[in-house]
Amino acid sequence: MTEVAVAKEDVAASDDLVVLKSVNKHFGALHVLQEIDLTIGRGEVVVVIGPSGSGKSTLCRTINRLETIDSGSITIDGKPLPQEGKALARLRADVGMVFQSFNLFAHKTVLENVMLGQLKVRKTDKKKAEEQARALLDRVGVGSQADKYPAQLSGGQQQRVAIARALAMGPKVMLFDEPTSALDPEMINEVLEVMQQLAREGMTMVVVTHEMGFARSAANRVVFMADGRIIEQASPEQFFSNPRSDRAKDFLSKILHH
Ligand SMILES: Nc1ncnc2c1ncn2[C@@H]1O[C@H](COP(=O)(O)OP(=O)(O)OP(=O)(O)O)[C@@H](O)[C@H]1O
Ligand SMILES: [Mg+2]
Repeated sequence: MTEVAVAKEDVAASDDLVVLKSVNKHFGALHVLQEIDLTIGRGEVVVVIGPSGSGKSTLCRTINRLETIDSGSITIDGKPLPQEGKALARLRADVGMVFQSFNLFAHKTVLENVMLGQLKVRKTDKKKAEEQARALLDRVGVGSQADKYPAQLSGGQQQRVAIARALAMGPKVMLFDEPTSALDPEMINEVLEVMQQLAREGMTMVVVTHEMGFARSAANRVVFMADGRIIEQASPEQFFSNPRSDRAKDFLSKILHH
């Protein structure tokens, strides 16, 4: 009996891509992540929402080890996050991250920005890296901007370049931390559309966003955080129509009626 149960769990586990168990993190006296348990399946799109300061960005940053954790464990594809060195660089390549600010290298062209990681971390040869970079820039709709510098592009275009740059590494999972919040309203959709397309193609994604339309149409699951804890998680339909906790009801009433 027991053996069968264990075997079943093993099968289920192979579909889990990112697993956080009892993760705790403090900034000084502030307990910013409290006993976080979160499993993200391969191909799953998880939208993380919650009030400012609830720990959403910190959660993302721990997944590619931009922040260390105090206790608990994080695994990607069954392997614990590496501490340092080359293994850590490879992890960062496996976990693509797109931030609110695009963080493109200002003195490099769009094409060079997208090629850089492939050359340095993945050791792809130059010709192949360029081919891939051009194909990715086409895919996010900025192929014609390849030879420009980031400052010559609009915010929406720069953010799409940042997405292409992360994709160039062939990531297993993509983390987006409020990728559209710094954009002018007319540019938000072009970025969300690229993200929608990625989701449809089966990319595993963790997305912190206030774009509830995106959450409704692209997310498999909504995770609601407050005060460093995951308060509830549910399908978007269930979460938006029938939030269980008072915190989530209060939060939704504020963001949906302004
Ligand atoms: N490097 C840091 N040092 C000290 N405190 C920090 C640091 N980074 C974040 N914090 C604090 O940790 C808490 C969680 O921050 P975090 O940025 O994860 O929240 P968030 O949910 O992403 O908020 P927002 O919606 O405003 O982006 C906040 O109280 C924040 O001030
Ligand atoms: Mg944040």
